Amino acid sequence: MKKKILFVDEDPLVLQGLQRSMRGMRNEWDMVFAESGTKALELMSHGDFDVIVSDMRMPGMNGAQLLNEVMTRYPRTVRLILSGHDDQDLVMRSVGSTHQYLTKPCEPDALRATINRASALGESLKDERIKTLVAQLGRLPSLPTLYVQVTEALQSGDASAGVVGEIVAKDIAMSAQLLKLVNSAFFSGKHRISSVVEAATFLGIDTIKSLVLCLHLFSKLDETRSSGIPMDALWAHSLRTASYAGTIARLMNCSQKMVDESYVSGLLHDVGRLVLAVNFPDRYSAVVASASGRKLQLSDAEREEFGATHADAGAYLLGLWGLPVPVVEAIALHHSPSLCTHMEFSPLTAVHVANVLAHEYNSSLNIGIPLELDWEYLKLANVDQQIGVWRKSVRNEHYGAD
Ligand SMILES: [Fe+2]
Ligand SMILES: [Fe+2]
Repeated sequence: MKKKILFVDEDPLVLQGLQRSMRGMRNEWDMVFAESGTKALELMSHGDFDVIVSDMRMPGMNGAQLLNEVMTRYPRTVRLILSGHDDQDLVMRSVGSTHQYLTKPCEPDALRATINRASALGESLKDERIKTLVAQLGRLPSLPTLYVQVTEALQSGDASAGVVGEIVAKDIAMSAQLLKLVNSAFFSGKHRISSVVEAATFLGIDTIKSLVLCLHLFSKLDETRSSGIPMDALWAHSLRTASYAGTIARLMNCSQKMVDESYVSGLLHDVGRLVLAVNFPDRYSAVVASASGRKLQLSDAEREEFGATHADAGAYLLGLWGLPVPVVEAIALHHSPSLCTHMEFSPLTAVHVANVLAHEYNSSLNIGIPLELDWEYLKLANVDQQIGVWRKSVRNEHYGAD
C-alpha cells in the first residue's frame, strides 16, 4: 500500500518545488500538499497520514503548534519539521512533539531517505496489535519535566555541559541517583565525580539526558510489587547494553551522533518491559513464568498474552515522546532487525548485537530460550565478520562492570 505523506508550507513555490523534487516517489507515496496548518488539520480529519513534514515558520498556526496538535489528535503519524537557523525559539516550543528536525535547505535525497525511514517506522507503530495493547494501557508514564527542560536548553543552541548540569542539579533526588551511577563501575572513571556539572562534562550531554529519562522510567516501577522483573538486573542490563552499543558504534568509526544514539538506544531498549510490568503486573509475571516454564522466547510469550511485545510497547512510548527515528527504530526492532527497511549499520545494528552480548555476559535476565544473533541480518548489514572483534572489545572494555 502507498504511504500517505502530507507536506505543509505556507509558500506555494516551496510546495511546487517539493512536488517536483519528490516526483520520483509517486509510485510509492501518495503526496498531499497544504498551504497552512489549518488546511493540514482539515485534510488529516478525512484520513490517516503516515508522515507529516511541516515548515516551522508559518503565519497563523506555526509548525510547532501544528505538530503539537497532530501529536494529540493523531499520535501515530510520524512528525518531521523543516526549520531554518533562526527558528530556535519555535523549535523549543515543539520539543517532544517532533520526531525529527531537518534543517533548511534540505537536499531532496536526504529528505526522501528520512521520510522513507520514518514512514517504515510509522508502519510498525501503527499495527493493529499495538493499537489494541495501547488501548489497554491505563498509565503511560509522562515525559519527565527535567528531560524537557534539558532538551529545551539544548535546542536554544548555547547550552554547554555546565548549563545542562546546572539544570539537572536543581533536582536533588535525580542528582543523587546520577552521582551514584556515574561513580559506579559502569563508568569506571579514575577519580570520584562529586557534582552533576562535572558528570555532564565527563559523560557528555546526550548521555546525561538519556540517563535522566531512564532513571525516571525505572523509578516508576517502584509502584509495582510483583512484576516478574528483577529490577536491579534489568537496570544493570540496560547500562551494559548501552555501553556495549556505544563501543560497537565507535569501533565502526561512526559519527559522534550515531555513537550517542546507539548508547541511548541501548539504555532504553527494554523500557517496554517496564511499560508492560507497570500496567499489568500480574499478567506480566505470568508471561515471564510461562516463557520460562515452556521454554519460549520472552517476545513470543508477550505476543501471546498482549498481542505485542516489549519492543513494540517501548518504541510506541518513545515514539510518542518524540525521540529520534533511529532510536525508536532500534528499540522497535532490537529482537527482529531483519524487519528493518534498510541494511546499513545503524543504532539498531549496535543494539541488536549489544543486547545479545549483554545477555551472554549475565544470564540472570535470560527468560525462556537464550537470545540469538540474527546472522542473516548481520550478513546483509555486512558486519557478520566483525562480531568476534566486537565481542572481544566489549569484554575487555567492560569486564568487571556490574
Ligand atoms: Fe528486549
Ligand atoms: Fe535486553
